[in-house]
Amino acid sequence: MPEVITITSGKGGVGKSTTTANVATALALKGKKVIAIDFDIGLRNLDMILGLENRIVYDVVDVMDKRCNLAQAIIKDKRTQNLHFLPASQTKDKTVLNKEKVENLINELKKDFDYILIDSPAGIESGFEHAIYLADKALIVSTPEISSVRDADRVIGIIDAKSKKAQIGEEVEKYIVINRLKPEMVEKGEMLSTEDVLHILALPLIGIVPDDEEIVKSTNLGEPVALNKNSLVGEAYRRIAKRLEGEDVEFLDLKTKKGFLNKLKGFFK
Ligand SMILES: Nc1ncnc2c1ncn2[C@@H]1O[C@H](COP(=O)(O)OP(=O)(O)OP(=O)(O)O)[C@@H](O)[C@H]1O
Ligand SMILES: [Mg+2]
Repeated sequence: MPEVITITSGKGGVGKSTTTANVATALALKGKKVIAIDFDIGLRNLDMILGLENRIVYDVVDVMDKRCNLAQAIIKDKRTQNLHFLPASQTKDKTVLNKEKVENLINELKKDFDYILIDSPAGIESGFEHAIYLADKALIVSTPEISSVRDADRVIGIIDAKSKKAQIGEEVEKYIVINRLKPEMVEKGEMLSTEDVLHILALPLIGIVPDDEEIVKSTNLGEPVALNKNSLVGEAYRRIAKRLEGEDVEFLDLKTKKGFLNKLKGFFK
């Protein structure tokens, strides 16, 4: 069964696009046929993180408005087999999406892909409701900060009220991704811990991603960090993919970052 997974958040800039790019990459590495769609209309971003910005000809709105067919707009990643991408439109007109067009597009993609990952704009942006409307699952990204967690909580309420599943009396499966965790700060009591965040949001955890400079590097290079087998933060994303696939994997013990890296290095020598 194809699955539609929306990556969303309340607050902006918390790591949705980074999560989408890396989870999509990690699922494709597992042999799944994946398409990542950028729904952040007007603010193209996912293309750069995936390193595919130079290959864009048509975008998601061109497809919906029938200016081209799906095959013309879908970009096939040459580096990661099975990974595909549908870029956002750069139009300033945020009303270009409508429910019917979005549903037609997603239904078409369901015929062809195992996973359809939707990179949503933040909960305050228009376009957000379209991005969550057809979700089977939602990954709610939050940093361990009160403002981010509070806004995530609001978004969870909106998903439960406005998704198609909610309209037919079902529920979108919702999971939390905690991004940019700094274990040293948590230890000193200067940052919310994973437990604190989960206590407030009361949803299952699907990933803990450390704050890591490698993300900045990989974004600048257009190479998702999930491709780097020796990367701790890459491993955090690969584990999210495994959990989506139903595997029961432990969460990274971020306190032993060095130990983990050494172990990985030894393993891949
Ligand atoms: N784990 C991380 N460690 C370090 N930097 C990170 C991490 N995750 C994201 N970032 C950085 O944070 C910034 C925002 O990330 P990203 O664009 O993925 O967020 P977003 O939620 O998609 O933002 P927007 O709401 O604008 O769409 C980027 O500069 C990214 O490189
Ligand atoms: Mg984004």
